[in-house]
Amino acid sequence: MLCLASGGGQQGPTLAATGARVTVFDNSPRQLEQDELVARRNGLELRTVLGDMRDLSAFADASFDLVFNPVSNLFVPELAPVWRECHRVLRPGGTLLCGFLNPDVYLFDHEALDKRGELVVRHRLPYSDLTHVPAEERARLWGTNAPLEYSHTLAEQIGGQLAAGVVITGFEEVPHHADATAGWLPGYFATRAIKPR
Ligand SMILES: C[S@@+](CC[C@H](N)C(=O)[O-])C[C@H]1O[C@@H](n2cnc3c(N)ncnc32)[C@H](O)[C@@H]1O
Repeated sequence: MLCLASGGGQQGPTLAATGARVTVFDNSPRQLEQDELVARRNGLELRTVLGDMRDLSAFADASFDLVFNPVSNLFVPELAPVWRECHRVLRPGGTLLCGFLNPDVYLFDHEALDKRGELVVRHRLPYSDLTHVPAEERARLWGTNAPLEYSHTLAEQIGGQLAAGVVITGFEEVPHHADATAGWLPGYFATRAIKPR
């Protein structure tokens, strides 16, 4: 199994505990260290690989039965390379499980949402990143080194997977885990897709 952009010591060790042969791939050495730490602590085996989710050239074609991609594609500006690479490294009949944010969550002013729980429509969608928010405001809200987020569209998320050649066979939605949008709309979507044989 490939845990894609999935570092942090959560999903990789959990799947390894089921007996799966797991590779955790992430662009953060610190996140991968967490997987190694949890695996060591619990006597589990897994492999960690550092890299960008848009380039899986470290892996051969058809080398995984399952690609698990937790909510993380908000950190890359374009999704087509991610889906193309997922399709390539999956064996025929393999499964792609992916979680992503409901793009509509990005409509709202962050300060009003986080501080007062108010839904104030502010951002036109899709926004390419947060650079249209003044630097001073970004620093105040998230600190100076916060990663940029990209809202994406459902066409990129769902149409993009289909265009890469996988077939979507499952779809779920759940509320946001923390912010006030949870009372109004789904915060996260999850897809299950199969690479045809
Ligand atoms: C929100 S975490 C999701 C996984 C984490 N295990 C969890 O459950 O919260 C997002 C992960 O994506 C990784 N990431 C961000 N941009 C990436 C990229 N371009 N390529 C690979 N990994 C990336 C981050 O380092 C982080 O580990």
